[in-house]
Amino acid sequence: MSRVQVLMFGVCCLLQSDVARATNPPPMPIRPAQSTFDSSGLSYDYGEALGLSILFYDAQRAGVLPANNPIPWRGDSLTYEVDADGNDLTGGWFDAGDHVKFNFPMAFTSWVLHWGFLRFPEAYEVTGQTNMMCDMIKWPLEYFLKCWQPDTKTLYTQIGDATSDHERWESPESMTMDRPAWQVNTSCPGSDVAGDMASAFASGYLVFKDLCPGETDFAKTLLEAAKTVYAFGDEYRGLHTRCYTDAHSYYSSDAYDDELMVAATWMYKATGEQKYLTDAETLYTPTNVKGFEWENKGPVADLLLYEATQDEQYLDSTKAFLSERMPGGTMPYTPCGLVYIDDWGAARLAANAAMVALVAADDGILQGEYKEWALSQLNYLLGDNNFKISYQVGFGDYYPTNYHHRGSSCYAEFLDCDIDDPGENPHLLKGALVGGPNQDDEYEDVRTDYVQNEVAVDYNAGFQGAMAGLVYFANKGELPAAPAPTC
Ligand SMILES: *[C@@H]1O[C@H](CO)[C@@H](O)[C@H](O)[C@H]1NC(C)=O
Repeated sequence: MSRVQVLMFGVCCLLQSDVARATNPPPMPIRPAQSTFDSSGLSYDYGEALGLSILFYDAQRAGVLPANNPIPWRGDSLTYEVDADGNDLTGGWFDAGDHVKFNFPMAFTSWVLHWGFLRFPEAYEVTGQTNMMCDMIKWPLEYFLKCWQPDTKTLYTQIGDATSDHERWESPESMTMDRPAWQVNTSCPGSDVAGDMASAFASGYLVFKDLCPGETDFAKTLLEAAKTVYAFGDEYRGLHTRCYTDAHSYYSSDAYDDELMVAATWMYKATGEQKYLTDAETLYTPTNVKGFEWENKGPVADLLLYEATQDEQYLDSTKAFLSERMPGGTMPYTPCGLVYIDDWGAARLAANAAMVALVAADDGILQGEYKEWALSQLNYLLGDNNFKISYQVGFGDYYPTNYHHRGSSCYAEFLDCDIDDPGENPHLLKGALVGGPNQDDEYEDVRTDYVQNEVAVDYNAGFQGAMAGLVYFANKGELPAAPAPTC
């Protein structure tokens, strides 16, 4: 072999391995980067709560898990989910303690997570969580891209029959039941779920364009999907649970204006096109106070519209939403100081409102009051309560261990699993926020109690954004002292 041939050989093979690396990267374990966040002087380490919350979502993954799956007790599951034409619908997140994939709350969760990430990126950076976050939020988006089929204007909105799913107590890895897929389309539309899907895609585009390195192509794909699914939801108006009944008793929405309005504001943020701002302003109603959870998003839409226009009229309903929840408002409080909005998942409703308060504070509105109130609520959830318990699993020394969550209460390899099995859940579901206390601050760590002790993807979304807000302000030295705990 001549010297030239040797060199050419070397060049050829170096190139080949480079190509191989570029198209099929070796699985890298994702790990948090070094945290530089200084939590000394704070009531709790909000950065730790933030990082744990990301891991909760990784534990909810359905489908074929990537080699860098950070949850050691999770494996592949439900690898056979397909649409009516046999196309792949695997992936996404299990909704809660069960294993249904409900795309309406899943899409809501997705855009709320993006909202917090876009709003408080420094919080993720200083805690070393940016790469963990990018990896985590991509998972539902890849699944949504399978669910939305623009050529036929078909949007899959639920996978798994809720009744038969809820009759079983087993790990996702051991499931073999039928997984029917429900859709909305031009003859039976769902503007509520299409709206939240458009918000997830449009805000996801901004996240992957601006915050996640090397994801330009993925971002572009998301923007295209956002445009088509928004147009579908806007043109064909309807509520998705009127089309099929299976989601009706779980996630039924009674209006789609708020979803379309949020979607239009995200579309405006993503494209800068006036048309979307006009759409959003047309959908605006001054009385849309309601709530901020998977069904209602009015106050968020108002805040986003205020940011887009600086028009004070939009602020009023966000302010009204917060005054209703703050002391002196119409909402009751538990004796130890948690705003008690509903029996079902009191913790997440307080956390969601706290996130709105922190974003509004960052917009320069009632900064001291909003930050202090958010601190009072979030500190309650992390331990400033009568039991000194953290309602986030895995945070601190004392937290729930019998949460209503099938995957973590069963061993993947054993089919024999029962909700009444004695002992703690064998797997630690790090980062999950449970339902929370009742109105008397009472709480029992019992697996069968799905009101107080279930977890859900939507529960953690506002909570995570709120934690990011606290880290963001603390990092800038702009977090006031926490109000003294009531108990
Ligand atoms: C449209 O969606 C409805 C509700 O899910 C379904 O019953 C119907 O079969 C779908 N239409 C087509 C053409 O698939």
